[in-house]
Order: sequence, then C-alpha cells, then structure tokens
Amino acid sequence: MLPRQLLQQVSTSRHFLLNNNKTRTIITSSSPFLTKCLLFSSSSSSESQSPKSTFVEHLEDKDGDQAPTSTAISIDRSALYNPPEHSHEPMFESELVKHLNGIIKFRGGPISVAEYMEEVLTNPKFGFYINRDVFGAEGDFITSPEVSQMFGEIVGVWALCLWEQMGQPKKVNLVELGPGRGTLMADLLRGASKFKSFTESLHVHMVECSPKLQKLQHHNLKCLEEDDTSDGVEKRAISTLAGTPVSWHALLEQVPSGLPTIIIAHEFYDALPVHQFQRASRGWCEKMVDVSEDSTFRFVLSPQPTPATLYLMKRCKWATPEEIEKLGHIEVCPKAMDLTRTIANRISSDGGGALVIDYGLNGVVSDSLQAIRKHKFVNILDNPGSADLSTYVDFASIRHSAEEVSEDISVHGPITQSQFLGALGINFRVEALLQNCTDEQAESLRTGYWRLVGEGEAPFWEGPDEQVPIGMGTRYLAMAIVNKKQGVPAPFQ
Ligand SMILES: C[S@@+](CC[C@H](N)C(=O)[O-])C[C@H]1O[C@@H](n2cnc3c(N)ncnc32)[C@H](O)[C@@H]1O
Repeated sequence: MLPRQLLQQVSTSRHFLLNNNKTRTIITSSSPFLTKCLLFSSSSSSESQSPKSTFVEHLEDKDGDQAPTSTAISIDRSALYNPPEHSHEPMFESELVKHLNGIIKFRGGPISVAEYMEEVLTNPKFGFYINRDVFGAEGDFITSPEVSQMFGEIVGVWALCLWEQMGQPKKVNLVELGPGRGTLMADLLRGASKFKSFTESLHVHMVECSPKLQKLQHHNLKCLEEDDTSDGVEKRAISTLAGTPVSWHALLEQVPSGLPTIIIAHEFYDALPVHQFQRASRGWCEKMVDVSEDSTFRFVLSPQPTPATLYLMKRCKWATPEEIEKLGHIEVCPKAMDLTRTIANRISSDGGGALVIDYGLNGVVSDSLQAIRKHKFVNILDNPGSADLSTYVDFASIRHSAEEVSEDISVHGPITQSQFLGALGINFRVEALLQNCTDEQAESLRTGYWRLVGEGEAPFWEGPDEQVPIGMGTRYLAMAIVNKKQGVPAPFQ
C-alpha cells in the first residue's frame, strides 16, 4: 500500500531538496525488521546507463584531423600540444596548489590525471578528505547512508544473509572501505544488534585514509577503548552499538587475514584515481595536467606512451571493438583493478564476499571525471582540494579483474540500487518505521526512501531546477563478489 502511494507522490513532486534532510533522526523499531526484510521480492525500475555529460575540456588534436575510426591502440609521439588558455581566474595558491606546482616543476613536465586526482583527494597533508567532514547538507555532497538509516540497515540485511550462506561462522571480519562518517556501519550494527549470534561473530575493520574521518567514525560507532590489554593483544575499540570490536587501517592489505571476510565498498571506487585517454590523430594519448605561465592548471596530451597505456590496452581487450570505436575518451582505473584483485584474493583464500555499490556503468567509461563543491559542479582544475573529485565506476572492469584472480570467485550483478534495496525489503522497512514516528520523521522517511530508490543523476545533486529528478535508485549500481562455496548471494539469485 505505502509503496504505491509513494510512487504517485514521486511522479508529481520534485521538491526533495538537500535542506529537508539536515537533521537525520534515527528511528528504532521493536519489530525484528531484518527477518521481515528477508523477502526477496523484485522491484521494478528503469535502467538508464548513459554517462553524465562531460565536464572535462576536449583537447583538440595537434593536426586538427578527424579522429580515426580504428580501434587499434597507438600512441601519439608528437611534442606536447598546448590547448588554448583556460578562461578561469588565476588560482589562489593554497598549500596543495603549491605542492602540485612543485611536483610538476620537479618532474619537468605534466602529471597524469590519476596523480592529480590522488593528490587532490588523499594527499596526507592537504587532501580533500584528510582534514574535513565533507558530507551532508553543510558539506560538499551527500551519500545514501547520510540520506536515510534504511540504507545501512538494508546493507546489514545483505551481510546477515551472506553470513548465513557462509554457515554462520563464529568469527568474521566485517570490513568497510572508505566509511566516510561511519554512518552506514552504525546503522548496520544498530539494525543487526538483535541478531546476537551474527553481531557477536563480527570484528569490524574500517579502512580509512583520513585521520579526521577515523575520529568521526569512532564517535559515530559509539566506541569505547578496551581497558584490558594485558594479554598483549593490540589495543582496540568496542562499538557499544552491538558490542563489536572495531579496528582502523589505512589499507585493505593491513586487515588481518585468515578469517572469513565480508567487505563493503560504498562510494569508495568512485574516489579512486583514473587515467584519462583521448583519441588523437595518431592514436590514444594520455591526458595530463600541466601548469600554464599564468600559474593556472591546464590539460595537455602526453607526447609519448605512458605506463598507464598498458592498463588501457588491458581494458580494451575486455571490450568489444564496437564499444571502443564509438569513444573519443576512455578512463581506466588501475587502482580499481588492483583493489578488486586484492578483494578477490582475500575472498578466495578466506571465504566470504564483497558488496560494491557506486554510481557507474556496466562497460567502458568515457570521460566522467567531475568536481563537486558545496553541492554544485565546478571546474576540475579550479582550486584543487576544495572540491570532491569522482568518476563513474567501470563495473565491467571490476568483474573481469575479479574473475581473473581465481576460479573460486563468482561475480553477480550489477543491478540497480533500487532493485537491490527493493529485493532486500526496503518497502517493508519503511512501512515498519512509519508505524511509530512523528509527522516530521514520517516526512523525512518518505523523502529518504525516494532519494534511495527514485530515478536521477549521479552523483547525487540538487539539480538546477525542480524538474530534475534526484533519486539514487537507477544510476547507482550494486555488484557482489563472493566465494563460490557460498552459492549465489541475495538478492542476485
Ligand atoms: C565518497 S566518500 C564515501 C564515504 C561513505 N562510504 C559514504 O557513502 O558516505 C569516500 C571515502 O573513502 C575514503 N577514501 C578515499 N580514498 C581512500 C583511500 N585511497 N584509502 C582509504 N580511504 C579512502 C574517504 O576518506 C571517504 O571516507
């Protein structure tokens, strides 16, 4: 009943602005929602997968030729081509700008877009994520866990189902990659806390590069430091939400191996640095970031083959010639390929599975890199470090990278976020929560529900006017990588 009412509502109303969700109230329900949610109904949604329009300038080819239609990969060895000057203002010389200038000068030439992206996001001193809380209405962008508690709760349902398929092991590593504020994990643990045998099996591992966000996660998981370290075991925190131990790491490789493992990567892959290639008259050239004489950054094309070309060749082998032929730009993400291999190796040896949810395509991604500051798209090269950089995730590449690792691994999806949440029971959950809340909470729940499952652009943004749908249900995709021993994970059957 409720879902139908909500469907009617969303088709006429587009006023779900970010400010509506400034305060996120946790609503608890005494009903064992998880059992109710284990009804694997299918949800309908239209799947549209065209990439977002480009925010990256097109660099003209040196000779001004038409791009060839050949799909062969050859490399432009001509001198650097300098495109026309940018129109943007000379930049404010932040510490990160000085640092990037220094790298380019020291190298004696431009750096890859991937290196630029990595420095901008995760430079240990000046990176976008390192010293700030960038999430929510007051920050730069909003993510599904910040939209509604139901997101983390339903991811918890997925983890619980997988744990059951794993044979309910007594000890499990539950790993989250890039946990942001820790909201997803907090909602997962709070929601699952009634399932004692599940939560008692868990050791939570948060893989986070930002010291500021690590502290926030510690706070939001309501962690207490363990007093007794007399047994020589490393000091760890206990989340009072479900009595689970929690540890922090900078890398997945630092999470102890040897235990069955469940890995969650929500909006983590989209922050991994990509190399961008552009088709020129003599073949594919890597796009690089250089400094102009007026000290602004600009894009140039690499004069010679770059190491990342090997990854481009690998990515093109996984695609059909027709898929490559129509593209003038291609993004490749070696870090995503390497991370997927690490995940697949871990799952192959220790058992378990991984859930990847992100905005993306089930195929080659063209030029999706974009910058968002205070909920608005901005120029990628302007005031680096003050805006988030992200890209569409290439889910097909994740699949191929995982499948290459081991025959023990199976990959499922991607399906849309709307299908994923619908099949794991978000409709039942929202109904249960609506039984016991104030009018204000009910409005917030309905808004959150539609943001999670409705149609819209990605990354999530307010849109220039009220006509733009802003749901995350169709552009955000879910994929599972599991050890075949576990069978097909819910809800990918
Ligand atoms: C887009 S945010 C997503 C946050 C959270 N998953 C959510 O959905 O709200 C990316 C997160 O990954 C972290 N991160 C980005 N690159 C990282 C890296 N190379 N290693 C570890 N953490 C990283 C950021 O600090 C941040 O917590």
